[in-house]
Amino acid sequence: MQIITTKADLERCIQACKAKGQTIGLVPTMGALHEGHASLVRKCVSENNITVVSVFVNPTQFNNKEDLAKYPRSLERDAELLNSIGANFVFAPTPEEMYSADEMNNTFRFDFGGLDQVMEGKMRPGHFNGVVQVVSRLFYLVKPDRAYFGEKDFQQLAIIHFMAERSELAGTFGNLQIIGCPIVREQSGLALSSRNERLSADEKQTALAISRTLFESLNWAKQPGATVANVQQRVIDTINAVPGLEVEYYEIVDQSTLLPTDTFNHAIGCVTVYCGPVRLIDNIKYN
Ligand code: PAF
Repeated sequence: MQIITTKADLERCIQACKAKGQTIGLVPTMGALHEGHASLVRKCVSENNITVVSVFVNPTQFNNKEDLAKYPRSLERDAELLNSIGANFVFAPTPEEMYSADEMNNTFRFDFGGLDQVMEGKMRPGHFNGVVQVVSRLFYLVKPDRAYFGEKDFQQLAIIHFMAERSELAGTFGNLQIIGCPIVREQSGLALSSRNERLSADEKQTALAISRTLFESLNWAKQPGATVANVQQRVIDTINAVPGLEVEYYEIVDQSTLLPTDTFNHAIGCVTVYCGPVRLIDNIKYN
């Protein structure tokens, strides 16, 4: 496995692989890798000749400086894990290598067909512009056949699908396939996240109420007379009743449009909860 830190070296390696007719899979990450990332990388390794994993804490997608500063960084440990899974290249550039000073200001603007007007997009203005800025750049550099993303960031996945398949950029990435992979959970139910590293042992215990409530809500949705509105409210009230947790939003939306829905068909519930100072997200599909 080779660790690459410049765009020029990455492009040289990619050209050499393409010249040999090898298929290329890309797993974009911000590092602090856990079993959720490992599952994406394993799938990528099994479906492509060459696996590229980017490890880059992308400054342009953080609208909170403290969150960016505190984001866990562990390149050495990440590289060991990626090597053991069979990744071929790790691309770990500095922000200065990735962006010009202008680009760093996240003035990049993109039309997401409204998918960014809700939930995370509403709470974190500019966040998805930053995500698409870095992901589109990675697509241009790596020219992957397939790119892998976790469903924990369901709205991000929907926006990346939109970018690659329906936006003005669609078609500029060749025959790229975007592949969404299921959430990986601890046995306790807690969705794996790099941010879990910032939870104390007590907070981690407290955070279990998030996934427990989401799973319980599948039963509430099946009760006679259940409506989307009352299940949504019951989830919010149940999580907020746990000392140490505070719901930022819980919305049950259509899985394609991400717009509010009044039916559980093709619906997904997306939650963001503060557990102490740590912002956690999770989701559950109703069917
Ligand atoms: O999901 C993430 O870790 C990031 O948003 C991504 C896709 C690597 C872009 O920085």
